[in-house]
Amino acid sequence: MNILITGSTGMLGSALATHLSSNYKVFGIDIHPENIKNAPQVYQQCDITDVKSLQKIITDVKPSIIINCAANTSVDGCEKDVEKARAINVGGVQNLVQILAGSNMHLIQISTDYIFDGTAGPYSENDKTNPINNYGKMKLESELELVQSNVNWTILRTNVLFSDNLTEPASFVAWVYQNLKKNEKINVVNDQFGNPTYVYDFTRAIERVIERDAHGIFHYGGKDYVNRFEFALQIADTFGLDNRLINKITTRFLKQLAPRPYKAGLKTNKIETELEISTSNLKDVLESIKRSGETDE
Ligand SMILES: NC(=O)c1ccc[n+]([C@@H]2O[C@H](COP(=O)([O-])OP(=O)(O)OC[C@H]3O[C@@H](n4cnc5c(N)ncnc54)[C@H](OP(=O)(O)O)[C@@H]3O)[C@@H](O)[C@H]2O)c1
Repeated sequence: MNILITGSTGMLGSALATHLSSNYKVFGIDIHPENIKNAPQVYQQCDITDVKSLQKIITDVKPSIIINCAANTSVDGCEKDVEKARAINVGGVQNLVQILAGSNMHLIQISTDYIFDGTAGPYSENDKTNPINNYGKMKLESELELVQSNVNWTILRTNVLFSDNLTEPASFVAWVYQNLKKNEKINVVNDQFGNPTYVYDFTRAIERVIERDAHGIFHYGGKDYVNRFEFALQIADTFGLDNRLINKITTRFLKQLAPRPYKAGLKTNKIETELEISTSNLKDVLESIKRSGETDE
């Protein structure tokens, strides 16, 4: 079975390419000229906003499944340059829907807890959406593109993804680790909550969706509901770093361009029950990253 991953050099896309390559023939596309993460995949550069290039690749690869991980994931960037971000986060999905319409290819769209307003998280699949920033609005709009289409789709929402790669720029774990290791002070908010998700746990959940041919909307996240300050403390404690370098602040202090949902995060009962998949606790995952990091360094 051929699987095409968009955004395949990103944090999730590269982990997915690595994980799925043992059982499937994996093809990856991303905006970058080269496969910058060197994840195992047949790689081509492709901008998902360019419908003709995307169509050509899909015609050539003939994937049974497309996993759309390509996105502009800069939450503040989505406020700064709305048009550019919208072309990727919504336009890219519209292109996929247009190409896949009437086919039996299965499109798995990756979405986020930022489609909720963060007043009452963690959220279940039936809770009312109400995004409070452009990133969340765009991701919700892209979900609706699928829901209203005749494409064979699944939407998987996740939150606060982190990787085992301690130099991954998009991973909170790597950011905390790198700064504390250099004895740099960091400001971390104590009012944004979520259930941090280890990227390889999420790739296993995505594989389960593929194996079970599951459709509809599913939430996936880690077991522990924590704020970012608590998360940073756990990272420091696991890696034996100085937690006094972590300065507790509130979101208001950061003056970020995009408002953030405070009590965000996702309930995972549906995916755990229907697809018989478990979630991990943060401490165990951080310990395992520490063990593998020590052997890599
Ligand atoms: N990270 C999280 O905590 C989180 C939480 C919930 C949901 N998600 C969702 O999970 C998915 C993957 O996120 P991630 O954390 O892996 O993000 P990521 O590391 O930023 O990966 C996204 C990849 O897509 C690429 N891309 C951007 N524009 C493109 C275009 N026009 N055509 C093709 N590729 C393009 C990016 O390139 P550049 O790096 O050059 O932009 C990047 O390599 C996204 O849909 C995101 O919304 C992420």
